[in-house]
Amino acid sequence: MNLNHKILYPVKGQQKNIFFSGKGGVGKTSMACITAVETAAKGFKTLLLTTDPASHIGSVLDCPITDHITNVEGQDNLYAVKIDQKKATEEYKEQVLKDAREKFDKTTIMAMEEELDSPCTEEMASFQKFVDYAGGADFEVIVVDTAPTGHTLRLLELPMDWSKQIQMKAGVSTGISKEDQAQKDRFDRVIDMMKDPEKTTFSFVMYPEKTPIVEAHRASKELNTLGIETQLAVGNLIIPEEHAVTPFFKNRREMQLKYLAEMKATFPKAAHLEVPMYGEEIKGLRMLREIGKSIFK
Ligand SMILES: Nc1ncnc2c1ncn2[C@@H]1O[C@H](COP(=O)(O)OP(=O)(O)OP(=O)(O)O)[C@@H](O)[C@H]1O
Ligand SMILES: [Mg+2]
Repeated sequence: MNLNHKILYPVKGQQKNIFFSGKGGVGKTSMACITAVETAAKGFKTLLLTTDPASHIGSVLDCPITDHITNVEGQDNLYAVKIDQKKATEEYKEQVLKDAREKFDKTTIMAMEEELDSPCTEEMASFQKFVDYAGGADFEVIVVDTAPTGHTLRLLELPMDWSKQIQMKAGVSTGISKEDQAQKDRFDRVIDMMKDPEKTTFSFVMYPEKTPIVEAHRASKELNTLGIETQLAVGNLIIPEEHAVTPFFKNRREMQLKYLAEMKATFPKAAHLEVPMYGEEIKGLRMLREIGKSIFK
């Protein structure tokens, strides 16, 4: 399969979203940065977005990243943004409560405040930001660096919760306002885009060992129940053959090859990408470009 075309690049006139999920520390942030630099270098206006509050994309790109879209210096067409979950949550709560204060009494507002004080609201607020970016049509490619597994799945299940909150906001009897309806429509459009394999690539990053494969498999089955197929499985940190010269590294590499085969069997419909272990930290645009060139053929 030609990885570049189906998985990485948008169909002409469309937007492509690429999500990197996986267990903690498998290389999601590195892969997201490599991929974003690759699509930008190919001329696609690319946004690298992170929903992980702990993400270090700024240090990988060697460029300070904030919650405002920044043009990444040194790479044409590349922009990056970090969703500030706390700020997004405050804005979201304020927005919901502002409308509600005009309509409801104190007791109802207090009940709403309590309802909004849940981790679900934080995720919803982050997702709302993602919807703003993804629904904005300003970028040809959006690469998403996610927090360790679970997060992305929750996001996709959110429309249900969101509908509930919208209902709560509007009050059962008063119906949904035009503004809320417009927001919900945009939300639904992004969800549809996320479920369309031509527009969105879901990818799991693993190192070839048992637990990352098991965890990615479990998460991909959950995605399946939402009608989403995993399209790309990345086997990261593979010891290069030329360095497997001592019994220790030979053994490790053999073990890795066995698990790479297991990955292929576990994700039979996905494209597979193998990424070698590098001798140094993955950092800086030059290194990201070089890695991109060597792994995306
Ligand atoms: N192929 C590789 N070769 C060498 N180092 C790598 C490779 N892939 C990742 N690393 C290093 O491993 C560390 C973890 O990678 P990264 O931050 O991309 O993982 P992550 O999945 O985003 O982690 P987290 O779950 O904490 O967000 C980083 O220091 C990164 O430089
Ligand atoms: Mg990360």
